[in-house]
Amino acid sequence: MSRKPIIAGNWKMNKTVSEAQAFVEAVKNNIPSKELVDTVIAAPALLLAPMNYLRQGTDLQLSAENAYFENAGAFTGETSPAAIADLGIEYIVIGHSERREYFHETDEDINKKAKAIIANGVTPIVCCGETLETYEAGKTAEWVEGQITAALKDLTPEQVSNLVIAYEPIWAIGTGKSADANTADETCGVVRATVEKLYGKNVSDAVRIQYGGSVKPENVAEYMSKENVDGALVGGAALEAESFLALLDFVK
Ligand code: G3P
Repeated sequence: MSRKPIIAGNWKMNKTVSEAQAFVEAVKNNIPSKELVDTVIAAPALLLAPMNYLRQGTDLQLSAENAYFENAGAFTGETSPAAIADLGIEYIVIGHSERREYFHETDEDINKKAKAIIANGVTPIVCCGETLETYEAGKTAEWVEGQITAALKDLTPEQVSNLVIAYEPIWAIGTGKSADANTADETCGVVRATVEKLYGKNVSDAVRIQYGGSVKPENVAEYMSKENVDGALVGGAALEAESFLALLDFVK
């Protein structure tokens, strides 16, 4: 089954509005067609509206980096998935390890967020990944299986088919120490097998799985050549326009 590649930059808490606008201007007409690859920037919520305005009519897609699981109410400081959807933003990243670690997000929160985001017609990019300790103990597969099972609880097969899942080993994030392509493929394969166990082969063949953790223009093609890797979620190497565009060279 052929799945469309998805390359997403995750800016984390970087860039001002004017820096984000300059980035969009630099890349928006230089990315490959969205028939070939989904090209996405996940940006802080404050930057999304001005970026959205500038990217109209181009193939650049946008993602929020988080959202709350309620659409409205007394939740000071949170971002509504309905507001993100209303803007026309295509994706929302949920369950990034930094959200889990620094903001104490649980598997249950992530499941609630997935449901709220899907209900608003936006695609969640659901992150999973193990610590160095878990990796060294040889427990990556069971850890990732547990995270995915919890995140997808009560979703329908059709909803899961349309999801994006990102496997990001925590020990490879921002460390320059990437999981090699075979290790990434193996664990993305564990994610796919978990989806198959829960939802069957049609769904696991359809779901797109990204690898994230020190992906750069120099190594992206190798990850993308692997059977179970359908894309990349990229931090540091997605911050500059030139480097971001170079991540897409494998498409040509
Ligand atoms: O979400 C992407 C990220 O956590 C990976 O960051 O800087 O290792 O590419 P980086």
